[in-house]
Amino acid sequence: MLEVIILAAGKGTRMVSNLPKVLHKVAGKPMLQHVLDTCTDLGAERLHVVYGFGGELLREKILNDEVNWIIQPEQNGTGHAVDIAISHVNDDSTVLVLYGDVPMISAESLKNLLQAAGNRSVGLLTANLQDGGSYGRIVRDEYKCFKSIVEHRDATPEQCQINEINTGFLAAPAGKLRQWLTRLECNNAQGEYYLTDIFEMAVADGVNVETCQPVENSEILGINDRQDLAAVERIYQQHQATIFMQSGLAISDPARFDVRGNLTHGKDCSIDINVIIEGDVALGDRVTIGPNCYLKNMQIGDDVEVRANSVLEDSTIGELAIIGPFSRIRPQSEISSFAHIGNFVEIKKSHVGSASKVNHLSYIGDTEIGADVNIGAGVITCNYDGANKFKTIIGDNAFIGSDSQLVAPVEIGRGATIGAGSTITRNAPADELTLSRPDQKTREGWKRPLKKSESKKN
Ligand code: UD1
Ligand code: CA
Repeated sequence: MLEVIILAAGKGTRMVSNLPKVLHKVAGKPMLQHVLDTCTDLGAERLHVVYGFGGELLREKILNDEVNWIIQPEQNGTGHAVDIAISHVNDDSTVLVLYGDVPMISAESLKNLLQAAGNRSVGLLTANLQDGGSYGRIVRDEYKCFKSIVEHRDATPEQCQINEINTGFLAAPAGKLRQWLTRLECNNAQGEYYLTDIFEMAVADGVNVETCQPVENSEILGINDRQDLAAVERIYQQHQATIFMQSGLAISDPARFDVRGNLTHGKDCSIDINVIIEGDVALGDRVTIGPNCYLKNMQIGDDVEVRANSVLEDSTIGELAIIGPFSRIRPQSEISSFAHIGNFVEIKKSHVGSASKVNHLSYIGDTEIGADVNIGAGVITCNYDGANKFKTIIGDNAFIGSDSQLVAPVEIGRGATIGAGSTITRNAPADELTLSRPDQKTREGWKRPLKKSESKKN
């Protein structure tokens, strides 16, 4: 059985935040959730998360019934953290140790690590870096056989020159690991129980230490401060962009690409710069998304054009529709095929029928619009009386003149025409012209007033 222990008790002081570090998000998802999702991909059977500071918030925000939450009230080192968790693990399981603040580790690298460890050996993920920085160093003997890990702060100047570093990721037989953990001591530079000391014990016990390296070195990047977080975010997005481009998505600039959720797409779609995708977004074939758009939980049909600076949320768009520039589609809207939604138009909880047009400066809320309707510039559905919301219904083929207000609840019949500038408070019959507008008057001979100084001169 594969059991995972995820260390996540660190305070994250350098984030300067009230939020526990592992709840900070990468690509819109808490970093701990990334690690848990990778465990699911690995087929791990039991997940143990060691938490500390702000633990209750973690349990609230991370919705995963399978997690066994283990509190580590005081952080006395990585060895101490794993020791607390190991009592929850079956002796004949394989244990994988992961980190809540290292979210980009891939299932593939971990599979390689598990394979290296097998049933009897201890697996250790190492990486070769130009500068080992503050990472623990891998010490090998003259035959290049693994000897031990020395922490940077305990290392001699010569050991500091070693390029092979400890990523922290390890796989080990649980029973053995438990025995080694009981023997840990804390007589080191940091006065902590070092998990890394178990490797020397393994060597002494004649247990093989097998090392392997991650698919990409960027996978082992840990997050300690907001700069790390931003750097990891960019690497993650760049990586996603590469995969999307390989599957045929045109991305204008992978450096200005942000998917914070799940994007699916058909053939020949394109996404311009500065587009943010959140939640579940599905694009059909040949969809184009213009620059500076925000799309959250959207279903978009074939050949739809979303033009620049549009904001679309929790709605569906039918094929061949044109949205934007500067459109706002609010939740629970359904824009049918061939419809046009134009600039400075807000649609909320409304259905816009096939080939209907709302092209300029409108608010359409709680409205059912039929097919082939034309909504003139500046039309407002008055759906709210200050206490309750009401519906507007507009039949097929209706024409609503510019700058009209439709005071809901109200129904405009099929083929009805509403004269420009009307305030419609009662139902308008089908196929008739309805308008509410004072008659136009002209006062003949009327003169504009003049300024006093000008009238004296005359
Ligand atoms: C550890 C390794 C080091 C390795 C580095 C990789 C040890 C002794 N050293 O060092 O060899 O190069 O990781 O990043 O293991 N944590 C707890 N409880 C604790 C202590 C730590 O949950 O009591 C968690 C932290 O939240 C963090 C992780 O364990 O996510 C690593 O702890 P940290 O103190 O950062 O270890 P390093 O000093 O970086
Ligand atoms: Ca660290």
